[in-house]
Amino acid sequence: TVLVVDFGAQYAQLIARRVREARIYSEIVPSTMPVPEILAKNPKAIILSGGPSSVYAENAPGIDPAIFAAGVPVFGMCYGFQLMAQALGGTVDNTGRREYGRTELSVSRPDSTLFEGTPGRQDVWMSHGDACSAAPAGFTVTASTEGVPVAAFEDDERKLYGVQHHPEVMHSTHGQLVLEHFLYRGAGIAPTWTTASVVEESVAAIRAQVGDAQAICGLSGGVDSAVAAALVQRAIGDRLTCVYVDHGLMRKGESEQVEKDFVAATGVQLKVVDAAKRFLAALAGVSDPEQKRKIIGREFIRVFEQAQAEVVAAAGETGAPVRFLVQGTLYPDVVESGGGTGTANIKSHHNVGGLPEDLDFELVEPLRRLFKDEVRMVGKELGLPEAMVQRQPFPGPGLGIRIVGEVTENRLDLLREADAIAREELTAAGLDRDIWQCPVVLLADVRSVGVQGDGRTYGHPVVLRPVSSEDAMTADWSRLPYEVLARISTRITNEVPEVNRVVLDVTSKPPGTIEWE
Ligand code: XMP
Repeated sequence: TVLVVDFGAQYAQLIARRVREARIYSEIVPSTMPVPEILAKNPKAIILSGGPSSVYAENAPGIDPAIFAAGVPVFGMCYGFQLMAQALGGTVDNTGRREYGRTELSVSRPDSTLFEGTPGRQDVWMSHGDACSAAPAGFTVTASTEGVPVAAFEDDERKLYGVQHHPEVMHSTHGQLVLEHFLYRGAGIAPTWTTASVVEESVAAIRAQVGDAQAICGLSGGVDSAVAAALVQRAIGDRLTCVYVDHGLMRKGESEQVEKDFVAATGVQLKVVDAAKRFLAALAGVSDPEQKRKIIGREFIRVFEQAQAEVVAAAGETGAPVRFLVQGTLYPDVVESGGGTGTANIKSHHNVGGLPEDLDFELVEPLRRLFKDEVRMVGKELGLPEAMVQRQPFPGPGLGIRIVGEVTENRLDLLREADAIAREELTAAGLDRDIWQCPVVLLADVRSVGVQGDGRTYGHPVVLRPVSSEDAMTADWSRLPYEVLARISTRITNEVPEVNRVVLDVTSKPPGTIEWE
């Protein structure tokens, strides 16, 4: 393991990802963790991340110098670099001058461990106020910039390395190579962390945790729960039962994908609960978005609990208790909740499936060390269908919040068709990776006049809402090619009865949200 000590900026996660891209497992620890505790984790190397502060700021997070004397290779980046310089007797000046953004780095030692094979002048990403003017004794200065005399240094004897810039960001053109030089050459770690090894280790860990007991897993149709279930299934086979609640608000082909493709790929024991009628009945006459969401959430929990009780009762006959609940929690959730140490029982969580809060199970969370793209790779490794692994986000309440107005069976059918056409055409145009998602919304309470064949129509519009986004917190509307929009529009108005108009939503988020309700 390579540990990334997080000094409080956004960079630690990115660094951990880059280390993993170099096929070495890495984890993030907070800078408040005492050094003995860090060392007790037996890291093969330690990276000190950037941070928002000046080393001279009041309450600036520091580091116990013992970390540099433990014989573990250390790489300081940006703030971590300055901490290292300061702790080991170098000089860090509180210059008041800031260097921010793309900067040219001059490499004075092209034979150094970090910079070998990289150009003498290269673009790097900087973001700092203070600057190192003298390296600590024993260090060789390997690079500088116009404003910073000591922009990189290393002590190959003690295996200590540092750079003022951020090698982890894309704008640092040789950043990944510099990082890999530290990992492979400096720290001497072999790149053995592969998707296959992740699967193998996870399977062993799940077997050890679950023992002879049984487990249950709620499938939502999303990537995370599917991959988590597939991993656990690989580990304990028939002692896992998956529960999929079909609320009738899924898109075309989605429930079939879970029922057939997922089972075909994994051989998992699946309990499908067809609750469409129940959800529709509960939603009858309701058009307020928040009320719809509440009803769907409530019904979901009821149905899930009932199914779960049935699974537990049936399992009781076989003797092995159902003690475990599988969840698709990802590493960013773990890091963001300040965790890393698992809690045994569910207290509260806001999972996609909206599972009940008072379940008395132990959790199995096989993805809690993985980022989303790694989860997708594991899914592929496990043989899950591409369409399932690359799936774009889809809200838990499903099409229920994409019909503006009351949700009825007929309206769901129309929207399902229109949505399927839009997805088909976007896929055919090769645009799936360019857009974050493209909700199709039925304005069920709006009608407009049209003409089709020789006749007048009085139908409903659908809205296309293609967006691009990094994390769904903010989004921009996708500039889709006109030809693709034209094909979608023609097909929807030709093929979907009662829809006679297709409109495009050109609102960013904010002010609009991605979904209409
Ligand atoms: P908004 O509409 O808030 O959506 O901009 C942001 C992202 O979240 C998805 N979304 C949901 N996902 N349960 C979910 O699992 C929900 O209730 C829910 N509501 C919105 C939405 O599709 C988008 O990706």
